[in-house]
Amino acid sequence: MKTIQDYNFEGKKALIRVDFNVPLNDKMEVTDETRINAAIPTLKKILNDGGSCILMSHLGRPKDGPEDKFSLRHIVPNLGAKLGMPVKFADDCIGASAGDLASGLKGGEVLLLENVRFYKEETAGDKAFAEKLAKLGDIYVNDAFGTAHRAHASTTVAAKFFADKCCGYVMQAELENAQKVLDKAEKPFTAIMGGAKISDKIMIIEQLLDKVDHLIIGGGMSYTFFKAMGGQIGNSLVEADKLDLAKELISKAKEKGVDLQLPKDSIVADNFSNDANTQIADNYAIPEGFMGLDIGPESREVFSEIIESSKTILWNGPMGVFEMSNFAKGTNTIAQAVVRATENGGFSLIGGGDSAAAVNNLGYGDKVSYVSTGGGALLEYMEGKVLPGVAALES
Ligand code: 3PG
Ligand code: MG
Repeated sequence: MKTIQDYNFEGKKALIRVDFNVPLNDKMEVTDETRINAAIPTLKKILNDGGSCILMSHLGRPKDGPEDKFSLRHIVPNLGAKLGMPVKFADDCIGASAGDLASGLKGGEVLLLENVRFYKEETAGDKAFAEKLAKLGDIYVNDAFGTAHRAHASTTVAAKFFADKCCGYVMQAELENAQKVLDKAEKPFTAIMGGAKISDKIMIIEQLLDKVDHLIIGGGMSYTFFKAMGGQIGNSLVEADKLDLAKELISKAKEKGVDLQLPKDSIVADNFSNDANTQIADNYAIPEGFMGLDIGPESREVFSEIIESSKTILWNGPMGVFEMSNFAKGTNTIAQAVVRATENGGFSLIGGGDSAAAVNNLGYGDKVSYVSTGGGALLEYMEGKVLPGVAALES
């Protein structure tokens, strides 16, 4: 696979797939700029070479054509501010307006195309649509690691129309950091898995059981394990059809000599609300009418100790409902432990999505080794799947 350093973009129009699928509030303001920040070095390299940038992205999952709340127009001010220059915008990703703006683009200029998912051809991976996109540029650059697990027109199919194609800095860094954890992890290696559902993480957990020394499981999915072990979990989240699977994972961990750590206690609440009445409960005996919304104090202590003595850490998924301040302590404490492990010379990779948001919100983005811009893409890569967006750059 060629990388962006292999090319000089002088006089070239780079057609760049970025992942600007960022969260917007109801005023249509970007609430997390991580993915925009991440793309800047790739754009600067091309602009400094004397090339121009034509940016393609999706935003959200529009069902049926254009919709203002999914318009990439809302990103233009953020991108312009980061680059310190005006950004042109095409209100359609193909057609005459995009064609005219792209052909008139001069070296050093940036054009952002409207959401590619306003065409159903994008997710269908339609060839004719991909060819129309491809006509806009001379060199194809894929820097959208977060969307590399989708075999869509702009992420995968468009690459076929270019002799010159490469990955950008984000894609390169993501793959290198993921490989570092998968193939070159210094021991002790601890994986921390959280979030609501076992079903989302089952494949990655099975892969990790062959690699890690400690596997910490927290968040909503831990209650399925306690239910499977005969615990009383009150109204806590449970995947009733995954009880056997949970038991299986427990015995597999034993067989492989992995230290599987489930939280001993929880902060439980009588309501799914920040104002709920709370108490601390043992995870085998959560009172009737209460649900676990965060890991408890003993779990925080045990998990922190393991994390701080680790040399490699992979973290994906929060320990509780950290969006509510009264249930954020578990996730925040784990983030602090990961920072301390990193300060002690460990390598820490934070998977995208909620755990990345938690780390960034705490201002720890620079205090861990790497925060991934990928959620599903990182998990699929670590599960050993071929990412179509990456494969398309290799062929
Ligand atoms: C993401 O945020 O997960 C990526 O941008 C991919 O988006 P998708 O899950 O809608 O394909
Ligand atoms: Mg997703």
